Amino acid sequence: MSGVLALDQGTTSSKAYLWRDGGLTLVGQRKHRQIRPRPGWVEHDAGEILSHLGELLRLAGPCAAVGLANQGETVVAWDAETGQPLHHAIVWQDERTADALARLKAQGVEALTLERAGLPLDAYFSAGKLRWLLDHAEGARALLRQGRLRLGTSDAFFLHRLAGWCATDPSTASRTSLMDLRRLCWDAELCAAFGVPVECLPEIRPTTGDFGVTAGGARVVASVVDQQASLFGHGCRAAGDLKITFGTGAFALGLTGAAPVSDNTGGLLPTCAWQMEGQPPLFALDGGMLTAGAAVEWLRDCGLLPGGHAELDGFTGPSAIQRGLAFVPALAGLGSPHWDRATRGTWLGLDLSTGPADLRRAVLEGIALRAAELVRSLHGALGGGTGRIAVDGGLSRSGYFTQFLADALDAPVEVAGSADVTALGVLHLCLEALGRPERPAPDGTRRVLPEAPVPAALHARFARAVELARGWPGG
Ligand code: G3P
Repeated sequence: MSGVLALDQGTTSSKAYLWRDGGLTLVGQRKHRQIRPRPGWVEHDAGEILSHLGELLRLAGPCAAVGLANQGETVVAWDAETGQPLHHAIVWQDERTADALARLKAQGVEALTLERAGLPLDAYFSAGKLRWLLDHAEGARALLRQGRLRLGTSDAFFLHRLAGWCATDPSTASRTSLMDLRRLCWDAELCAAFGVPVECLPEIRPTTGDFGVTAGGARVVASVVDQQASLFGHGCRAAGDLKITFGTGAFALGLTGAAPVSDNTGGLLPTCAWQMEGQPPLFALDGGMLTAGAAVEWLRDCGLLPGGHAELDGFTGPSAIQRGLAFVPALAGLGSPHWDRATRGTWLGLDLSTGPADLRRAVLEGIALRAAELVRSLHGALGGGTGRIAVDGGLSRSGYFTQFLADALDAPVEVAGSADVTALGVLHLCLEALGRPERPAPDGTRRVLPEAPVPAALHARFARAVELARGWPGG
């Protein structure tokens, strides 16, 4: 029983990778439904995902240890006695709590969330969603009175059901708006401000350690947010090291060291990177763009990518932004550093000669230029840009995209060849927890150097496009 299993429970699917006898194999991948009951609402069936995780655990066979990566801010309400979810999970992308949070903002609560949790008031984070579940999930209030209600990020639900521990870790808890980022514990004032009963929340345990034992006898030894897992998987360990994962959204995380660093505007998010058992925590700053790969999926759904992902390459001639064609990838609002959820995706500079290839190219460039904006903000807050920039995720397979990104950053980028750096990070955390020396490396990492740095005038042009998008329709 030497195998170690990394479960990557993401927004669109759950994947399992098994590390055994020095080899890493994909055990399986299970996609789950994206439930969209109304515009701006995104739900998952937590029971469906749970059955996928159970199936992947069974497929993997006997293992010594398991680690779990989670989606971050996605939340579940469940009955502690029966283990049954009371409602679909509310996903990190979901915007249903925007009005409630605007009311809290008007009451001045954001000063408290920024000061204590490091986070602005935004529908992205878990606290408002947990309160929504308490108010709307059938039976939640009755279960609360009986002491049976559990409210938590999705990791806590899965760990409770698969390994018997209702627990989360500081990286995940730092995405809720309910944790005191300096003390790494639930904060009574924050819980009261959001109306989330602290007794319903999971226990916060270090990222590595003891999270219970699965039905198959494997010890769960690591639990972490997927973004932090990929930071670990890229080997980022030093303050200033930075990674960007281009998944559904794109999330840039830069390690800041032993204390949380804030940019004092709420534009970038201080977050716990991880806390190894028996050690002090490490912190990071997070800059997130809410739609990246999702914008490419949207292109496909609109029929603008008929030849598949191969059409994300092979462009010739001047870039779209150079020709005055810009796309602002704000299909679910603007994340860091603007946090303006009312902004929508925007095309600028269309003319009669604009064709599908130009539109695709502008989407890729818009994502890269937004990523460059995130990295500039991160470097500003970190006091310089000297560390590594590592990237992964679906979009990093496009040669055009990674070259344009290196040009937009005017810095080399290390592009991971491995399909899943998140799973690799979970695996490394598990191996550290077990005190085992081996570390599977990401295979086929390529270094992309800037060839034609994007000039400041074109960054300014894109920034103007973002401002124009923010003004529409009535701003
Ligand atoms: O903050 C949300 C993010 O962690 C989700 O990542 O990979 O599940 O799209 P992913």
